[in-house]
Amino acid sequence: MFGKLFGKKKTGPHMVRIEGVAKPIECDEKTFLLSAALRDGIPIPYSCRVGGCGTCKVQLLEGKVKEFTDKTYLLSQEELRANYILSCQCQPRSDIRFRVDGLDLSAEAQASVHQLVTRQGVIKALRPLTHDILEISIEMDGPMEYTAGEYADMRVPGVLEEFRSYSFAARPDPQRANLVVFHIRKVPGGSFTEWLHQADRLGARVELRGPFGDFRLRSGAAPMVCVAGGSGMAPIKALLEQAVADGAQRDCTYLFGARTQNDLYCQDDMAQIASQWKGTFRFIPVLSNEPEDSDWTGPRGLVTEFLSREVADLATCHAYMCGPPPMLDAAIEVLKQAGISADHIHFDKFLDKSHLAKTQVANNIPHVGENG
Ligand code: FES
Repeated sequence: MFGKLFGKKKTGPHMVRIEGVAKPIECDEKTFLLSAALRDGIPIPYSCRVGGCGTCKVQLLEGKVKEFTDKTYLLSQEELRANYILSCQCQPRSDIRFRVDGLDLSAEAQASVHQLVTRQGVIKALRPLTHDILEISIEMDGPMEYTAGEYADMRVPGVLEEFRSYSFAARPDPQRANLVVFHIRKVPGGSFTEWLHQADRLGARVELRGPFGDFRLRSGAAPMVCVAGGSGMAPIKALLEQAVADGAQRDCTYLFGARTQNDLYCQDDMAQIASQWKGTFRFIPVLSNEPEDSDWTGPRGLVTEFLSREVADLATCHAYMCGPPPMLDAAIEVLKQAGISADHIHFDKFLDKSHLAKTQVANNIPHVGENG
């Protein structure tokens, strides 16, 4: 009653209007704007969900939000002046209106927004891929629909409560909707990966939630160039398998960066993809630390040095990349210099704790990639 008498402020849910979207969505004060939009099938681009990549930025046009992380190191001065915010890190404090640059409301984009689910799972198979990367197959208690390129969060209840994020390493298989596969690299000091690599974890129980991310294959006829390093192979492999399943006819060059021959893996999978690919498919491993006197006759150096050299029509390509930030930042620069527009450069960057604000780590929010 007193609230009414003294004009108590509305605490939500608030109405959120997104430019170009006919119907407003509701968002309460405990829900992040990105989550509310995805829940209602609006495909706002995003990647990390923890304020570490900037992909989810939107321009706030009206209303108030509470921001949970410092955005200043991710957004340009111009964007800050124009009132851009990170939708994964903001909750509304009034009715609001915002705009998403290049919001893709196509049927293809909307179809990629899947229902977020939490599943209990059992580790059904473990297979070493290299000296430090394990393939892990998990049987879940129900299906998790996802698009190739996306990722899920994983934790080990009762053992490791903090979620870690890993990309699906295979395209979704409707015949085996309860099975998911990941590639997990051992990260020194990383509690989850050390637990996993320490002993035979076959039969261990895990919890998964997902899917997340908007790294996915876009339809089109343009040639593709893919770049990956380390366990960044996983989402690229899934994308390529999906392209084969879709009967893609475009040419594709895939540059995979590794330190030495001991770090190469999935070469049989790449050969299989090459044999089924309808256009030209080239898989080119590039080694950065292979001993000079070894029998390696392939390219040596950094993958970025070979982009222009190996891909004659680079300017016409659409790019798909996954790996550590320095590799991707360098590759993005080369691709932009070659004339590829930002709209056609798609990537999934590994993030670790150094990229995240303290509040996120303290709040036990997961991060993406080779993160421990
Ligand atoms: Fe919001 Fe990465 S998805 S900052």
